[in-house]
Amino acid sequence: MKVTLADGLASKGILVVGLAFEQGKKASLVIESGDLALDTKPLLAMLKTMGATGKPDEVIKVPTAGFQLLVFTGLGKASRKYAHEVLRRCAGAATRSLAGNEAVAYSLPTSDLHSVAAIAEGAVLGSYLFEEFKGKTKGDQKSPVTSITIHTSFAKSPEAKSISSRAIIIGEYTSMVRDLVNTPPSHLHPVSFAETMKKAVAKAGGEKAGLKISILNEKQLKAQGFGGIIGVGQGSAVPPRLIHISYVPKKAKRKFALVGKGITFDTGGLNLKPGPGMEAMKSDMGGAAAICAATLAIAALKLPIAIHAWAPLAENMVSDTATRPGDIHTMYGGKTVEVLNPDAEGRLILADALVKACEEKDLDGIIDVATLTGAQVIALGTRTSAVMTNNDEISQQFLTAAQESGESFWPMPLPEDLRASLDSPVADLANIGEKMGGMLVAGLFLREFVPSQLPWIHLDIAGPAYNETGAFGYTPKGGTGIAMRSLIRFVENAAN
Ligand code: BES
Ligand code: MN
Ligand code: ZN
Repeated sequence: MKVTLADGLASKGILVVGLAFEQGKKASLVIESGDLALDTKPLLAMLKTMGATGKPDEVIKVPTAGFQLLVFTGLGKASRKYAHEVLRRCAGAATRSLAGNEAVAYSLPTSDLHSVAAIAEGAVLGSYLFEEFKGKTKGDQKSPVTSITIHTSFAKSPEAKSISSRAIIIGEYTSMVRDLVNTPPSHLHPVSFAETMKKAVAKAGGEKAGLKISILNEKQLKAQGFGGIIGVGQGSAVPPRLIHISYVPKKAKRKFALVGKGITFDTGGLNLKPGPGMEAMKSDMGGAAAICAATLAIAALKLPIAIHAWAPLAENMVSDTATRPGDIHTMYGGKTVEVLNPDAEGRLILADALVKACEEKDLDGIIDVATLTGAQVIALGTRTSAVMTNNDEISQQFLTAAQESGESFWPMPLPEDLRASLDSPVADLANIGEKMGGMLVAGLFLREFVPSQLPWIHLDIAGPAYNETGAFGYTPKGGTGIAMRSLIRFVENAAN
């Protein structure tokens, strides 16, 4: 991917400009081409005839004299200063609709450097394609947009270079998360996930970049007492793994641990999920993918914050060796859990990983990311993720970062009255409790595995990790990459 900021139009190729609408007695369209002056009168007349609305996700392409193609992308309501996420999305929607072309230029309204960055980011994120399993014969595979030029008067500013390189990094690692989520369980299992990460760490520069990876195999996991990961993975022909990626810069201002749920496929185990829709459970490793990719991106950005990322990986399958309802497993660190429902498996592998992650000394906080509960989707829908915490300050910092990165997260409580529902008559805890408020119960379960004085946030991304409806803005169908950008922004903010 190439991203260039330019203060003059370099070519007469494909140009993307914005289209907004003005409400009022006489509704009208507004062309928003940023610093580029266009002869708008005939264009507006044509757009009106075409029935253009300027609404978000409307992309209109017109062959006009002067350009190979002029593309209007919807901004929504006209404004003097467009929200960064509006810009990100309209740039992304345009790129998405231009797949198959190599180079695209954008001239959109930029009120400050942050809006330039948002456009670059959205344009890059919209270029994503997942074509790996489509016929290799000519015509079956589209080629992605690989050269993005942002036309802006800010092009000469000293920040221009870091804006393009950051957009490229965000794009590269969002693609990594999306690819991992989209890759089916026939091709992605705990062992191959771990191998992929090993290669990715080497490609990102390895120890020279401050990165290290270690992978615990099933023998080591068993010997060291990771009963949650072993218990969930024991029904699968492919053994579980625990990945640890560390990024330690020369001078670290702070240190955070990240933990991500890595169920490469969730059948529900002996509590088998219904067939229709089960294919979406290939996304059940979206948390693990997000924290691994975020760590590599943080290293690529050379941020002065140490990161310890832990990804427990297992496949939740049905077999004669699978965990039975009622089995008791001992989590890493010694707590016992009665597995009343083998479909509540995420919290078991996370319990192990959280306890392990908290062994690191002098942590400033710990964040876990998981496609944890169907209750999250019921409560907040498919596009808004949940934040639960034992510390309002770190939660607020994360919510600010999410807001800045354009990802939708919302705070949820951990009500004490629900905690008792996780009591078990035969073990320290049961893996399920009160059904109502299931997302919060899952959060309360995880809280048991984090020291109460360590700032912790739990992100439930069950719905937002995987887009089952249609593409929108810069978000494709399938894997979305959710949480990674907010994690990066959180760490960027912690460095400043
Ligand atoms: N991976 C699922 C949660 C999920 C649901 C993710 C929908 C993405 C979309 C998780 O392992 C699960 O099965 N949770 C159960 C928990 C219940 C048994 C307490 C659920 O939510 O039904
Ligand atoms: Mn499950
Ligand atoms: Zn699951």
